[in-house]
Amino acid sequence: MTKAFVVREYGGPEQLRLEDVDVGAPGQGQLKIRNRAIGLNFVDVYQRTGLYKTSLPFTAGNEGAGDVVAVGPGVTDFAVGDRIAYQGPIGAYAEERILPADKAVRLPLAISYEVAAASLLKGATAFYLLHWTHALKADETILVHAAAGGTGQILTQWAKAIGARVIGTAGSDEKCNTVRGNGADLAINYKSDDFVARVKELTGGRGVDVVYDGVGAVTFEPSLDCLKVRGLMVSFGNASGPVSIPRLGILADKGSLYVTRPTGAGYFRTANDLRVAADALFNLIELGRIKVAIDQTWPLAQAVEAHRALEARQTTGSTLLLP
Ligand SMILES: NC(=O)c1ccc[n+]([C@@H]2O[C@H](COP(=O)([O-])OP(=O)(O)OC[C@H]3O[C@@H](n4cnc5c(N)ncnc54)[C@H](OP(=O)(O)O)[C@@H]3O)[C@@H](O)[C@H]2O)c1
Repeated sequence: MTKAFVVREYGGPEQLRLEDVDVGAPGQGQLKIRNRAIGLNFVDVYQRTGLYKTSLPFTAGNEGAGDVVAVGPGVTDFAVGDRIAYQGPIGAYAEERILPADKAVRLPLAISYEVAAASLLKGATAFYLLHWTHALKADETILVHAAAGGTGQILTQWAKAIGARVIGTAGSDEKCNTVRGNGADLAINYKSDDFVARVKELTGGRGVDVVYDGVGAVTFEPSLDCLKVRGLMVSFGNASGPVSIPRLGILADKGSLYVTRPTGAGYFRTANDLRVAADALFNLIELGRIKVAIDQTWPLAQAVEAHRALEARQTTGSTLLLP
């Protein structure tokens, strides 16, 4: 038996219940993993509340790193004892779990379990957003919302590694200092400042090439006013609530804009897709171009407290749950 946080009903953080679960042996194409570190992500909240529907009951969590302790039939590229990380398949909030082998990536020696679990989902997301959703170029300017958050910090540093100009927003002056510390050219406190007016001023009225918006409901529409003519709105999350576009013509009115709503599931279609992203991420971490801020660590047993802090905007950078 292993300890795992199971969600039996959608709802608040209290719906995360620590239970004894029998994870069994790995089946065809599967690995059994002993988690050493588990990454907290906002998607864990959406799945817990039911905003993203997952069949009940389920074990929460989408990211982790640990050791392969058993290998199922048909697995040829992993062996017992391998250090791996994964992102995507639900079931991470557990001491041990079963994982499809094609969702695992091997860890380079220089990457600790903690750094991997704090960065793989968020960093693979930053990779696809900056390379595949839009191939960001050094002469472009982007706006990154929630730039002091887990994904926002990696996205900002990666965009700077590409050479682009980055304007980041965050919900306090202290968080804005963090945003600047990650290399952003400008940071805006969007609680106290009008970010649309500031972006217009900072871009000489032209607007940015791309907005990366994981905040959603409260930032989506004003962000359209931050874009250049034919700019791209990348709405990749909904921390403040989901987005709807009541009238498509708004994109015409605001300058023939493009909008996309990408997900990891749409971009990481094969094992190789994830490995390409992980290789690029771990390489930049090893080179020191991306620093992974593990700003909060909780014992796995305190996952409920971790969810409360994330939803209350009390966290910065990445958060780990340690089994
Ligand atoms: N589509 C994808 O493939 C993908 C993959 C990874 C992440 N995401 C999305 O990216 C976003 C960031 O994820 P993350 O896990 O890295 O979380 P995070 O950024 O560490 O935390 C969320 C941040 O959003 C900001 N926020 C603004 N309004 C909020 C509200 N009403 N409630 C809570 N937070 C609010 C807060 O920062 P401030 O206080 O600075 O505003 C908060 O710290 C999420 O929307 C997530 O779903 C999408």
